Amino acid sequence: MENKFNIIWYNELDSTNSEALRHIDDFDNLSVIAARCQSKGRGQRGNRWFSAPGENLTFSIVLKPGADGLRKISVRDYFDLNRVSSLSVVSFLSILGVDASVKWPNDIYVKNRKISGILIENSLAGEEIASSVIGIGINLNQTDFPELSNATSVRLATGSSISVEDALVLFCKEFGKTISLLGSNSLSETYEEKLFQKGRLCRYSDYIRDREYDGIIKGVTESGRLIVKEGEEERTYAFKEIGYIL
Ligand code: BTN
Repeated sequence: MENKFNIIWYNELDSTNSEALRHIDDFDNLSVIAARCQSKGRGQRGNRWFSAPGENLTFSIVLKPGADGLRKISVRDYFDLNRVSSLSVVSFLSILGVDASVKWPNDIYVKNRKISGILIENSLAGEEIASSVIGIGINLNQTDFPELSNATSVRLATGSSISVEDALVLFCKEFGKTISLLGSNSLSETYEEKLFQKGRLCRYSDYIRDREYDGIIKGVTESGRLIVKEGEEERTYAFKEIGYIL
């Protein structure tokens, strides 16, 4: 899978995810839509994704499970795409000398700061994922984040800059390796090893019960729910049911 990515660079797009979704039928499996500048970068929960033009990676990978030997992915296993994407970012960053972890469900953190965010948008056909647009923003060379208080970048973490073009080629190599783990146990195992705050007593906000508590992340279920233990009681959470208090 390593050499089949087709990287398409645009100087400016509203959002690489939006562009990929608009033309999903025209893009082949493993097309990578990359923009030097996004005018309306989209984040989770309808938020904006801010990124200084030309300094960072903002791109979307089009996946068409079932094409080119890529295994089909059932809707039940959709969280595996979060695992693949998150771990690809973590291993890409590790090559650049940055030790990062996966803040479930969609963020990549360096210590207590966010370096990357992921927005996956799937189209379904019955019980299977027909296509997936995996949108990833990775802060590379930006050192000043006026809109954000907890952001960091490769440059801030290591002191070194990297060209966005070279970085994307490197990222795709890591993504190619990681996606080959789909369907194997080592995908979940490696994901668990990289989980932010796992095994440590930390404070969380439970949005279902409307309370804060000190708990320990134990892992993530196969279907992608976060497992947190408070004393002897273990609970699992879906997206948006729990918040981290950092
Ligand atoms: C988040 O942390 O809220 C997710 C951010 C995802 C941002 C990336 S940048 C490339 C792609 N295009 C978008 O509009 N969003 C994603």
